Amino acid sequence: MIELSGIDKFYADGAEQKHVLKNICMTVSEGDFISVCGTSGCGKTTLLNILGLLDTFDSGEYIFDGQSMADLKEKEMTVFRNSHIGFVFQDFMLIQKETVFFNVALPLYFSKKAPEDLAMRVRDALEDVGLEDLQYKKVSTLSGGQKQRVAIARAIVNQPRLILADEPTGALDAKSTEQMLRLFERLNQRDRTAFVIVTHDPAVADFCKIHYDMIDGQLCLRP
Ligand SMILES: Nc1ncnc2c1ncn2[C@@H]1O[C@H](COP(=O)(O)OP(=O)(O)OP(=O)(O)O)[C@@H](O)[C@H]1O
Ligand SMILES: [Mg+2]
Repeated sequence: MIELSGIDKFYADGAEQKHVLKNICMTVSEGDFISVCGTSGCGKTTLLNILGLLDTFDSGEYIFDGQSMADLKEKEMTVFRNSHIGFVFQDFMLIQKETVFFNVALPLYFSKKAPEDLAMRVRDALEDVGLEDLQYKKVSTLSGGQKQRVAIARAIVNQPRLILADEPTGALDAKSTEQMLRLFERLNQRDRTAFVIVTHDPAVADFCKIHYDMIDGQLCLRP
């Protein structure tokens, strides 16, 4: 599905250029369960943003389904992202003043699904994360773990082929973590959904089948 080769990314750091990703090579195939570990600031979120077509890179090649992502226009990139990729962001990125339902439905509004189908899909996703009773609550009134589960429901609602998750269990207790992993496993087995999960949580890393370590912007496949 995805082939990254020789990806470099620089950020401006005052007058200097900070080399945040160095010659990244990575393959993501249908059904892969991938973990990425590494210390704070080593570039994990930057890598997910590039994989998810939310950020650009400075050199190297990104091929998705045989197509070079460097050639896509902004609008084509958005369509690609909305139809294939789901995100669980590190800081959730939920709209606090809106309801749980609204937040989970957001990816469906962007992909222009019929409203009846929309309500059903949102309900299914909320059931999957055990939040069906909270759908009309404002996100700002939820706990951290509940917000994290809203973010997970939003990532799966559009049945993406790839889910990118940045510390998806950071705010979850052991039981909710276990439920999330079972949910991911179900999607993985049913739809061959691929996962790339940035995590410090041993329970999550153990669950993954392919492991990468990121060290100061370099990505190494663990043997
Ligand atoms: N928009 C930006 N502009 C400038 N520098 C940035 C930007 N985003 C990230 N950086 C820098 O790039 C480096 C990598 O950041 P990144 O967020 O990818 O780290 P991370 O591995 O996800 O860390 P954490 O585990 O703390 O979330 C850091 O040094 C960070 O300060
Ligand atoms: Mg990060």
